[in-house]
Amino acid sequence: MSPIIAINGLTKTYASGLPALRGIDLEIRKGEIFALLGPNGAGKTTLISIVCGIVNPSAGRVLVDGYDVVRDYRAARAKIGLVPQELTMEAFESVRATVAFSRGLFGRPPDPPHIERILGDLSLWEKRDSRVMALSGGMKRRVMIAKALSHEPEILFLDEPTAGVDVELRRDMWAMVRRLREAGVTIILTTHYIEEAEEMADRIGVIHQGELVLVEDKAVLMERLGRKRLILQLQAPLRRLPAELANRPLELSADGWQLVYTYDSQQARTGIAGLLRQLADLGIAYRDLHTVQSSLEEIFVSLVRGRS
Ligand SMILES: Nc1ncnc2c1ncn2[C@@H]1O[C@H](COP(=O)(O)OP(=O)(O)OP(=O)(O)O)[C@@H](O)[C@H]1O
Ligand SMILES: [Mg+2]
Repeated sequence: MSPIIAINGLTKTYASGLPALRGIDLEIRKGEIFALLGPNGAGKTTLISIVCGIVNPSAGRVLVDGYDVVRDYRAARAKIGLVPQELTMEAFESVRATVAFSRGLFGRPPDPPHIERILGDLSLWEKRDSRVMALSGGMKRRVMIAKALSHEPEILFLDEPTAGVDVELRRDMWAMVRRLREAGVTIILTTHYIEEAEEMADRIGVIHQGELVLVEDKAVLMERLGRKRLILQLQAPLRRLPAELANRPLELSADGWQLVYTYDSQQARTGIAGLLRQLADLGIAYRDLHTVQSSLEEIFVSLVRGRS
């Protein structure tokens, strides 16, 4: 299937001379939830802003459902709903008018039942006649989401949707994202919360200093995370791994003091009991043992550290 968003060789250098994006290639599949992770200043908002036609690329090309975001700006933008990182709104309007107006901006005919449904879904119904400026920050964020959905976009960008929001709104947002996905909407979100990516995403991309350093199916990442290591500190160093142990997933550390056994913690049989029995039979004694598990957070930190 052809991707709904195709990004090729995308580069952005701001007037300050700072390269914010360096040759990004990425394809977003129709109907997926893609989570973009990366530290502050990595280029997440810049990437989203270019796809949404708000920032011009320095080089490269972005197609949204076949439309070039620069050349065919209106057609491309009509397919997209954007919830920006910064809150910006018409403070004096009512919630309902603000959301209905957004729909009009995209040239869509009025559809009050659709607007009312969105307000209901986002728990904004009771606030429909309030002026936006009188709302709390979390409620304003809900209005931003309602605006982004007002024209029934096929693609939704959520730039840090849950930064600084309470647990309840976060849960509402996750439920809403799932409903939209079920309705076929493609969703790209940025987040600093790794557990959010773990919970929501079909695929995860990590961006660091303007480069995509990882793009992977979440299931593959989770499988990698399901692997644990059992580390045995030996009583006496081994010069080499005994031949009897050669068929086990074992490694001997360079100094010979540690045996590292890798296993899948999700399997019923980890093979640990058999390993320990065999070590006893071979007269290999250990004075300590512990297990370590890598998490998505560790993978993320090591990717980002290893490159800075
Ligand atoms: N309008 C601008 N003019 C000049 N430099 C900019 C502009 N917008 C962003 N930058 C710079 O580009 C780089 C990437 O910024 P960007 O906002 O895309 O990062 P981000 O990944 O969204 O970060 P955060 O997690 O803090 O939101 C940063 O170094 C930033 O200072
Ligand atoms: Mg940002």
